Amino acid sequence: MRLYVNIDHIATVRQARRTDEPDPVRAAVLVELAGADGITVHLREDRRHIQDRDVELLMRTARTPVNLEVAASSQVLDQACAWRPFQVTLVPERREEVTTEGGLALHEAARREATRAAIARLRDVGIRTSLFIDPDEDAIRTSLDLGADAVELHTGEYANATGQEKAEQLARISASADTAAKLGLAVHAGHGLTYENVVPIAAIDALEELNIGHSIVSRAVFTGLEAAVREMGELLRRARAR
Ligand code: PXP
Repeated sequence: MRLYVNIDHIATVRQARRTDEPDPVRAAVLVELAGADGITVHLREDRRHIQDRDVELLMRTARTPVNLEVAASSQVLDQACAWRPFQVTLVPERREEVTTEGGLALHEAARREATRAAIARLRDVGIRTSLFIDPDEDAIRTSLDLGADAVELHTGEYANATGQEKAEQLARISASADTAAKLGLAVHAGHGLTYENVVPIAAIDALEELNIGHSIVSRAVFTGLEAAVREMGELLRRARAR
């Protein structure tokens, strides 16, 4: 099981002040040193967190594969073809959403054809393609037909569910992962995974890659806060000791 860490929310904190810290590219170095198998970033059309500069630098400095999430119809796709990350994950994107809300609507002809065209363009320049889809059989079969190398199963509904519904969502993801793997697709999963809910997902044999962001960045704030406050306190004490 590969862990790809999504570092978008390091950039979210930076963009709150439009300053140069915390730098997601520096974060990527630490993420790699900690053992992550890859770095995931979502370059949104509205540039709300990750910026072009981040992807450019990441492409030159990352030691692990970069998984770039983009919307199929955007001009970001042109940039992706030029940057040539190891993998592009095509995702739906709506400006009003707080975060990606669901998988690609591949049942809609226009979306399906835009996705087909995007996959062909990416494949032409040697980029591995993954489609972010809901865990259902039609979407999986369509992904195969479109020529994707991998599917990333949306775990958001599982993450939000409780009780019996959570068990049902887990079974749905597990069955979808088996179906996709049997069809020869690489199977990834992600969205809303946390330290509390990841274990049953990670136990699904057919899954080979998880993309996790918000929960890891959130945990890092708490595991790092004490040291950060101590460091600032030490600076203040030293200033007066002179
Ligand atoms: N996978 C995809 C396709 C996503 O869009 C996101 C969020 O950007 C993630 C995984 C990571 O989700 P989370 O931040 O909730 O871990």
